[in-house]
Amino acid sequence: MSTSTLPALPVVPETDPSRASLDSFRIAIAKRLTETLPLSLEQAFSGVDYGKKGEDFTVAIPRFRLPGKVDEIAAKVKEGFQPDEWIESIVLDKSFLHFRVNTANMISEVLNQVDYLTHSSPSGKPEYGSNELGRGKKLVIEYSSPNIAKSFHVGHLRSTIIGAFLANLYKACGWDVVSLNYLGDWGTQFGLIATGFEKYGSQEELQKDAIKHLFDVYVKVNKDAEGNAEVKVEAAKWFKRMEDGDDDALKNWRVWRELSVKKYEEEYDRLNVKFDVYTGESKVSKESMDKAQKQLEEMGLVSESQGARVVDLEKYKLGTPIIRKKDGTSIYLTRDIGAAIERYEEYKFDKMIYVVSSQQDLHLAQFFKILELMGFTWAKKLLHINYGLVQGMSTRKGTVVFLDQIIKEAGFVMHEQMQKNEDKYAAVEDPEKTSLEIGITGVKIQDMAAKRINNYTFNWDRMKSFEGDTGPYLQYAHVRLASIGRKNPHLLPLPPASQIATDTLAQYPHARDIAFLLGTYPDVVKVALKTHEPSGVVTFAFRLAHAISSAWDTVVVKGEEDLEKARAKMYLYECAREVLAAAMRLLSIRPLERM
Ligand code: ARG
Repeated sequence: MSTSTLPALPVVPETDPSRASLDSFRIAIAKRLTETLPLSLEQAFSGVDYGKKGEDFTVAIPRFRLPGKVDEIAAKVKEGFQPDEWIESIVLDKSFLHFRVNTANMISEVLNQVDYLTHSSPSGKPEYGSNELGRGKKLVIEYSSPNIAKSFHVGHLRSTIIGAFLANLYKACGWDVVSLNYLGDWGTQFGLIATGFEKYGSQEELQKDAIKHLFDVYVKVNKDAEGNAEVKVEAAKWFKRMEDGDDDALKNWRVWRELSVKKYEEEYDRLNVKFDVYTGESKVSKESMDKAQKQLEEMGLVSESQGARVVDLEKYKLGTPIIRKKDGTSIYLTRDIGAAIERYEEYKFDKMIYVVSSQQDLHLAQFFKILELMGFTWAKKLLHINYGLVQGMSTRKGTVVFLDQIIKEAGFVMHEQMQKNEDKYAAVEDPEKTSLEIGITGVKIQDMAAKRINNYTFNWDRMKSFEGDTGPYLQYAHVRLASIGRKNPHLLPLPPASQIATDTLAQYPHARDIAFLLGTYPDVVKVALKTHEPSGVVTFAFRLAHAISSAWDTVVVKGEEDLEKARAKMYLYECAREVLAAAMRLLSIRPLERM
């Protein structure tokens, strides 16, 4: 349903004014171009961009490559211009035309759409910003994927944060999303742990914290193995038994896996991250790996190297990776090949994303290539989303080994920071929980603020700061918006959108800025879907927070005696809050109501 009250416009493919009201203004501008220039509506539309220096929209005439002088063509468009319900003014700047949209109409169109899609959307959930681009399409996305019994390093944290964002993003764009956690729950290290568990294991410790205990055992037995080749042989034998499906050899391993997953689930929950399926390297069936190898052998792609079977990918500058070890056991690469095949059989995905550190670029390129060589047409539907390294994330206790250390430290650092402001601290309802939430927001924002591929150095001081573009600042901006209602109960409940005097907002440039920004949000989401970059959404959230903070002194609710005006302002801030919250949720952040 459309919330618009303005006259109907022609339809342009891939636009959706019922979800992005600024689309209508762009179409109106395009239509005006077609009235003077020999362009189709679509051609004209594709030339209407957001202005770079604060203008609403800009059209660069040269891009249309029309015959004649570009400056004259631009002047011709402006000639005889009369403002209408869509366009307020046109500024001519050589061969560029800057369009300013009708302020009162833009404000009411945008706000009413935000309000409608938040409170009365077809799904019953807040939908503003979402679109239907992925309707009927299935995405399988794999992220986090830590290794049981090894450390959860910051690379896994990045995969978790970026992956959760991407899963939310695809859902918001109408895709049917299946999220997988592909645990490192298989491999020789489990033979090693099994060997070591007899000596160092404790059922009690295991029940208390399986992740930590298995790690401890692993570290100890690893040390033994370094000085004693027999331990290694023992471990390899054990793993071979596991691969052969020996139930005795698998019994303990099953318990370890289950307890580790349980612990991980709790921690992901604190991070507001979910998985539809906890799969893992152990779940890849021997049959599919054998079948894949057989096919590769038959295609003449495999040769022998020191007893191992290897695939020659030199032609593609991808080396000569091993797919089967000398003793016949599988390795990481073999399992990825088998897993991909099984996933395609199970999900028939339209796209599958792997969120894995750029350190594994070669590994992913290798198995993508192998699948392509095997003739799977769906191999081109695989996408590796990579990211750079994080330096310097250590806690008071030293380097980070476990996810819960990071979470605890974030909460602790934030709690300490909040205690510095005694009055404010006293007013917080549940300071521990609140500081944990703000701390996690700080970690996430720092992680998603720049382009994925950049390395960055983690900084606890910056993470906990309420100043600058930080997580705490963003939460603060949301809390402040949420407090307007609490501080002005006499204005509540707000009347239905149609009875709110949004035209009274048109006199405030800051209100206009906020409304326009809100209008751009659906495009921010679309761009993120193309780039797979959370940073654009982070930038948007901060721009919005800044615009709101600039408006506080001029667009004042408290003390506004004209109730009609006061309600319109409150409506503006309420819509701003909804959109800020939507952007935060997309980034997997839980917006706080109080702090
Ligand atoms: N468990 C692996 C590691 O920690 C990451 C898994 C990435 N995903 C994959 N399909 N290979 O290095």
